[in-house]
Amino acid sequence: MKIRVLGAAAGGGFPQWNCNAPLSRAVRENRPGFLARTQSSIAASADGRNWAVFNASPDIRQQIAATPDLQPAADAPLRSTPIRAVILTNADVDHIAGLLSLREREPFTLYATRRVLETLASNSIFQVLSPDHVERRELVLEGETELYGPDGPLGLSIETFSVPGKVALFLEDPEKSDFGTSSGDTIGLAVRRTANIGEADKTLFYVPGCAAIEDALKQRVAGGGCLMFDGTVFENDEMANTGVGSKTGARMGHLAIGGPDGSLAGLADVDLKRRVFIHINNTNPILDPRSAETSAVLAAGWEVAFDGMELEL
Ligand code: MLT
Ligand code: MN
Repeated sequence: MKIRVLGAAAGGGFPQWNCNAPLSRAVRENRPGFLARTQSSIAASADGRNWAVFNASPDIRQQIAATPDLQPAADAPLRSTPIRAVILTNADVDHIAGLLSLREREPFTLYATRRVLETLASNSIFQVLSPDHVERRELVLEGETELYGPDGPLGLSIETFSVPGKVALFLEDPEKSDFGTSSGDTIGLAVRRTANIGEADKTLFYVPGCAAIEDALKQRVAGGGCLMFDGTVFENDEMANTGVGSKTGARMGHLAIGGPDGSLAGLADVDLKRRVFIHINNTNPILDPRSAETSAVLAAGWEVAFDGMELEL
């Protein structure tokens, strides 16, 4: 299975359009080692020709332009795409806004949980993806789903699992202490070739948003070929510390990397071939290749995702 990181940043991207904090300044000024990153998305393919895109980022047009594999082949029909399916892990803006760029009457299959499909259905702008071209299929939690494009199976299968997270920002209900969050608002995925179902070392675990590490998650990903995990913030109060906002990672549904309860410590004893932080917010010091935090994650065996990163499982 071929995997491409299309966008390694969290919502806002890196640099974020309105951010003047030191990290965003550094990347805008092309300081050595700083890499610009687009918003949260990856792609996978079993055969190198037909691709599934996981999360439709607001930057998808730019991501396709940067990824020849996702462009129409020279001998393909006048209107065509190698993107045969799009799978959503939640309804956050950074994961659904790109659907609007995929209009143009091009067939593909759209997969999401019932909670996320309901959000799309209740926002009429997504009707630009007409059911005549884009079939919406419900992902059942804890289920194994063989991915289909409009012309048949892609040779990829995904397993869905609910992770602690949060309802999308624009759906928060201030009347409710948990902001109205339910199971299925945020999911993680096990992605592999259908031929490799049951083989953890050939499986990519993709968890771009996760609020806590539970034992069930550790057991599920153990032995995995690669875990791509929520790298939104290094410190829970990083937004406040950097002076750009007041929300904590926890308030946004994202577990911090550092600290005794963070993902670095929480996943340290889990056997994984590769471990990669992804969905990285523009305040996270792991975006600075020379920071102490980057040294800490690298020393712990983690990689920091970047746009264009390629993996093979
Ligand atoms: C998140 O991951 O917390 C969201 O993408 C935030 C947002 O809506 O920008
Ligand atoms: Mn996000």
